[in-house]
Amino acid sequence: MGGWGHGHGHLSVPQDDVALLVRRALRVAHRAQELVLQEQAHSSSRPAALEALLVDLGLRDLSTLVHAGRCAWLATAVAQTLPLPPRFVWVVRSAAVLHDLGKLWVPPRVLSKPGPLTERQWQVMRRHPVLAGDVLAGLPGMDEVKDAVLHHHERFDGRGYPHGLKGDEIPLAARVLAVTDAFDAMTTDRPYRRAMPVERAIRELVRNAGTQFDPDIVDVFLQVLREQPPPWWEGREASLH
Ligand SMILES: [Fe+2]
Repeated sequence: MGGWGHGHGHLSVPQDDVALLVRRALRVAHRAQELVLQEQAHSSSRPAALEALLVDLGLRDLSTLVHAGRCAWLATAVAQTLPLPPRFVWVVRSAAVLHDLGKLWVPPRVLSKPGPLTERQWQVMRRHPVLAGDVLAGLPGMDEVKDAVLHHHERFDGRGYPHGLKGDEIPLAARVLAVTDAFDAMTTDRPYRRAMPVERAIRELVRNAGTQFDPDIVDVFLQVLREQPPPWWEGREASLH
């Protein structure tokens, strides 16, 4: 066996490939980070502190940073497929890299708990978009990025958090992030559960299109998976056609 999903159609990783996978995902995260910082370097004030915060986040919980890197890749591909200006692609990519920055202030015993969270612990966890929004608020040129990060857990039907925004009230970049975030979360191992097969995660997205997710974004995302399979899949794409 060896490699992803040969035969059993599952995204879990054979033990001997773990180191390789981590290196590859880190490269994705690092490259995404570089891109964000490069573009910020062109604006008048480069918030270098964000880079330090991202490194802190990686030190606290490496998997959160690696997840951010994969989300940045996926969300950028979606943004590039939409007929929108390059600035939008930058906003989506930056927001994807930074979307879980607020988890830096979630206690490690909650963030890395190897089991389901209690209601109180969920309340703490659900504060992360607001905490990241507070960090980004007021940074020059980062307003749209801040809004995308703040609203990435809103739901299309208005039952999300933190503000319960609905449909088009949710910034488009946040609607893109919601899809890529959920997909990456479902298809990777978490402390309390194993990764779900890609095919099942796709079914979940389709089932929740129009309630949790913007259905148009789900359509574009599925197109991206078919046409530009993520580099860390390695051969998974064959079964998506
Ligand atoms: Fe999040």
